[in-house]
Amino acid sequence: MSLREDIEEIRTQALGELEAVEAGEALEAWRVKYLGSNGAVKAAMQRLKEVPKEQKPALGKAANELKNALAAAMQARARQIAAGPATKAAGDGIDITLPGQRPRIGHTHIITQTVSEICEIFARMGFTVATGPEVEDEDHNFNALNIPPEHPARDPLDNFYIDAHTMLRSQTSTVQIRVMENTTPPVRIISPGRVYRPDTVDATHSFMFHQVEGLYVDEHVTMADLKTCLDQFCKAYFGPEVATCFRPSFFPFTEPSAEVDIESHRPDGTGYWIELGGCGMVDPNVLDAVGYDSERYTGYAFGLGIERMIQRKHAIPDIRLLFGSDIRFLHQF
Ligand code: DAH
Repeated sequence: MSLREDIEEIRTQALGELEAVEAGEALEAWRVKYLGSNGAVKAAMQRLKEVPKEQKPALGKAANELKNALAAAMQARARQIAAGPATKAAGDGIDITLPGQRPRIGHTHIITQTVSEICEIFARMGFTVATGPEVEDEDHNFNALNIPPEHPARDPLDNFYIDAHTMLRSQTSTVQIRVMENTTPPVRIISPGRVYRPDTVDATHSFMFHQVEGLYVDEHVTMADLKTCLDQFCKAYFGPEVATCFRPSFFPFTEPSAEVDIESHRPDGTGYWIELGGCGMVDPNVLDAVGYDSERYTGYAFGLGIERMIQRKHAIPDIRLLFGSDIRFLHQF
């Protein structure tokens, strides 16, 4: 075999064997075999002595190139081995036999989902959705709702005042007034949204929570309509077997007033009532204050706690879970 053939043979064989080298010791053995002082490259160089003088420069150059090429290939292989097998796999391209991975995408929060569901149920009963500001004036939060200046509900300790006449609304009843100011009767609206009260946070209280307000004003609206509406709503949201109970109560903006409860059960099967919110027939003073003829029109109103509903429906013991961002909790809905 001529020296030139020998050089090419060594190159092919060495690079072929190098591909199969997977670990440091094998790499060292490969180095000794090809680049060591008794290695194949050295042997090829020694054969330079035998070749005719005029071929020496070209063959000497070829032998040097072989040595440099093998040294460079060895260094590259050493880096691959040091980086570990993953690099090799990635270097090989994408493994199309791996199962596909669906990215984890988000979804609407359970409160948002519930607001949509509530709006849908009331829409079937003819209610449209109205909204109002969360930063509210005391006229809409109190005065127009027949809550006089000396009323304890206006206590600065029980409200988030921004200045003497402006506050974060403490109830969605404000929207009743805003809608009636801009609409001639009949009106039939609900208004879901956030309300704020400086309550100490615990399992059943939060400084911010959600209510859904309802208002229906027309001729001949009665308490029977109110009870039917709320009973039907509860059966649609909680299920047809749920019982509702109306307890006499007092709110300055309704007369008569009631609190609406739904039936709930302990693990041992015994029943109890959970308060969902307040309701009643709109007080004539409220209708008069917005310029409605209270001799001709009557109406009912209600305000229900949305977190309460969610907690009852999904057996959530602590309201704080709804306002945390624990993915393990939120993912369930
Ligand atoms: N706004 C009341 C509250 O936050 C709830 C309420 C009671 C709303 C009676 C009403 C109503 O519309 O008629 O406690």
